[in-house]
Amino acid sequence: MWQHAVVVIVAVVCFASFCYADAPKVADDGRMGWWREARFGLFIHWGVYAVPAGRYDGKEVRGISEWIMTRANIPRDEYEKYAKDFNPTEFDADEWVQLAKDAGMKYLVITSKHHDGFTMFDSPATEWDIIDATPFDRDPLMELSEACAKRGIRFCTYYSIMDWHHRSQLPNKLNKAGRPVWNPTKIKPEEKQAYIAYMKAQLEPLVRDYKTHVLWFDGEWTPWWTEADGKAMYEWLRSLNDDLLINNRVGRGRKGMEGLTKEGDHVGDFGTPEQQIPKTGLPGVDWESCMTMNKSWGYKVDDHQWKSTTQLIRNLIDTASKGGNYLLNVGPDAKGRIPQASVDRLRAMGEWLKVNGEAIYGTQAGPIQPEWGRSTRKGKTVYLHVFDWPGDGELVVAGLGGVTKSARLLAKPGQPLPVVSDEAGMVTITLPKEAHDPHATVVAVELE
Ligand code: GLC
Repeated sequence: MWQHAVVVIVAVVCFASFCYADAPKVADDGRMGWWREARFGLFIHWGVYAVPAGRYDGKEVRGISEWIMTRANIPRDEYEKYAKDFNPTEFDADEWVQLAKDAGMKYLVITSKHHDGFTMFDSPATEWDIIDATPFDRDPLMELSEACAKRGIRFCTYYSIMDWHHRSQLPNKLNKAGRPVWNPTKIKPEEKQAYIAYMKAQLEPLVRDYKTHVLWFDGEWTPWWTEADGKAMYEWLRSLNDDLLINNRVGRGRKGMEGLTKEGDHVGDFGTPEQQIPKTGLPGVDWESCMTMNKSWGYKVDDHQWKSTTQLIRNLIDTASKGGNYLLNVGPDAKGRIPQASVDRLRAMGEWLKVNGEAIYGTQAGPIQPEWGRSTRKGKTVYLHVFDWPGDGELVVAGLGGVTKSARLLAKPGQPLPVVSDEAGMVTITLPKEAHDPHATVVAVELE
C-alpha cells in the first residue's frame, strides 16, 4: 500500500521536478559561485525599533516590530527619542559571527538601514545613525565586518530604499488623529535626485570600507522608485565592485517571487521569496528564501511563536531541494543580545549540519521530491532526506536518474545499506528500524 503510494507520488514529483531542475542562467558562476555553494545564511534585523520592541503606550502593537513607526503612527521627532535609549553594551560581534558559524551558516546579512531610516553604521551622510544619535559610540557594522573576515563568513548588508525619516520623503497621509501613516512614503519630486545621491553616499562606504559581499535591497515598492532607478543603481554598484551581488528588490516591486524569469528582462542577481519556499523553486534563476524564526523580523518582546528546530531544519532542506538558499532571521534586543530561543535553534541546526552538511552545501535541486521527505544532488550522489521513517524499514524510490551503486546513512558512513534495484529503475533501500535523527535522516545514494 505504502509502496504503491510512493510510485504515484514519485511519478507526480518527477514531472514537477522538470520545472526547477534547470540551473540558473541569470548570472555567471564566477560571481555567484560562493553564494550558490553557501545555501544557508543569517539575516539580522537590528535597529532602534529594538527599544520599543513592539510596544507603544504600554500595549502591544500588532505586526512586525520594525514597522512600529508606521503601525503606531509615530511622528519623526517622537520616534527619534528611542535612539537615546539604544545602548547595546552587550553586543559582541565575535560572539554573533561565531554563532552563525556554529550554526553552519556561510554568510550574514544585517540591516544597515531599515525603513525608519536609522543607520546602523557611522555614516558621514547623516546624524540619524548609531554614532551620532545614540549613547553607543561603537560601529557594529564595522565590528561585524571584521569579525566575519576573521571567521570566513561573508559579510552582507540590507538597505531600505523607502525612508520614513529622510527629509525628501513625506508620510502617505495623516490618520484621523492627525498622525502619520508612513508606508509607502511620498517623495518631494524636487528632492528625489538628492535622495538618490544620499543613498549612494551611504552605499559607497558599505561597498568600499565595510566590504559588503551582497547588497540586499528592500522597500522598493514605494511608488516613486522606478525600474529605471533600480537598473541605474545596480549598474552603479557593479561599477564600484564588479563581484558584488545585488538582490532583485533593487528593481521596482520585485519583492518575492515575480520578476527575474527571463534573461535580460530583470535587474538583480537573485530572487527573494519572503516567508515562503516556492513549490517548484524559481525556474532558471537563483533565489533565496528569507524567513523569521518567530513572527517578527525585529526584536519583539511579545512574540513567542517560535518554529520548532525540526521545522527549521526541514525548511532548510526543502529550500536546498529546490535549488535555493535559506536566509534565517534573528532579531537582537536593544542590549545587543540574540534571543535565547534563537540561539538554541541555531545551535541545534549546526549540530545537524555537522553530520549532514554534505547533503546541503554545494548541492543542487534533487531529482525527486517524495512525500516522505526531500532530495538534493551533487554530481553522482543523490541525498535522500527522510522526514517520515517507513514503518517496515524499506525505502522505495524511483526516478533517481541512474543506476544505484550503493547507499549509506551520512550519520554512519562506514556501514553500507542493502540496496536492491529492479529493471524499471525502482530501488529498495533497507534502513535501520528506527530513524537515526528526529529532524531528518539523510541517505546518500551513489549512482553509477
Ligand atoms: C519586508 C518588510 C521588512 C523585512 C523584510 C524582510 O519587506 O518590510 O520589515 O525587513 O521584508 O524580507
